[in-house]
Amino acid sequence: MLATKVIGRLPSDQIDNGFYGQDILSVSQFDRTKLDYIFGVGREMEVLVERLGSADLLQGKILANLFYEPSTRTSYSFMAAMLRLGGQVIPINNVQYSSVTKGESLPDTIRTLESYADLIVLRHPELGSAAIAAHYAKKPIINAGDGVGEHPTQALLDLFTIVQDLGQLDGLKIAMVGDLKYGRTVHSLTKLLVNYGVQFTFVSPDFLAMPPDVLDVVRSTGHKFETTHDVHAVIGEVDVLYVTRVQKERFTDLAQYDRVQDYYVVDEALMSHAKPNMIVMHPLPRINEISYAIDDDPRAAYFRQMRNGMYIRMALLAAVLGKA
Ligand code: NCD
Repeated sequence: MLATKVIGRLPSDQIDNGFYGQDILSVSQFDRTKLDYIFGVGREMEVLVERLGSADLLQGKILANLFYEPSTRTSYSFMAAMLRLGGQVIPINNVQYSSVTKGESLPDTIRTLESYADLIVLRHPELGSAAIAAHYAKKPIINAGDGVGEHPTQALLDLFTIVQDLGQLDGLKIAMVGDLKYGRTVHSLTKLLVNYGVQFTFVSPDFLAMPPDVLDVVRSTGHKFETTHDVHAVIGEVDVLYVTRVQKERFTDLAQYDRVQDYYVVDEALMSHAKPNMIVMHPLPRINEISYAIDDDPRAAYFRQMRNGMYIRMALLAAVLGKA
């Protein structure tokens, strides 16, 4: 159990929802009960946005959005989530213009921002950086991606999208395709999916295979998995095809990147072999791994994922700040 962080000084601010004042660092903090809770609030947030556009639930609260790596969806959906709940945002997408360039450490930057804000969303290139930030911070930290480590809020919105589109998780066959070594989204998604009775297939070239520690989680929770290089071998069976970008920024040898970047391409020809009620997911950004020709296929779920990201982040912000 993580320590409860400082939110407000009034007893009325305290609420026992399992998230109040908590850091969100890893998907290992979630079980089925907590997932059901966040998905339930996420659905309420969707209705709120559709009916009213915004609410004043987080009025007076300030989020510091601290991004040391590029981001479009994660940073702006957190911003939109805070704004739609009546809160405000300090956006720091260009750390090169902050004192980080002068050599300020992550702990000192965190201590600075928590003097002004009620919680901090952090994306950073180093594995474990969110845990370090949380160690120093008195206010809650939400991990928005720590290098090749985890991306827990992406996994939450991914799971939410599967439930919204397919109605359930138990019994599904899920294939993850592409850069499973460096892709933090598939690390978090796999570790979250083990809460359900799913079957995994990991599709990648050998040197981009799922890391052993993630496979250990799959094994230790009694799940079966298969590995293959060939997406054609599985396309006809899967309920979810989760496609990833080859993470160019993690490669030290760019010649190696060039050899694999177009290894897998999901196009109309491949989709003609897929089940009628399956879905294709991608955390985005895509490079060439999903053809634009399938964007209008109802099975293409990646634009729905983006929208769901805002609802799930609204739910998380409200829960951590004790307003859900
Ligand atoms: C992902 C990330 O940053 O890990 N993007 C995202 O948050 N939607 C995936 C990626 O960059 O390939």
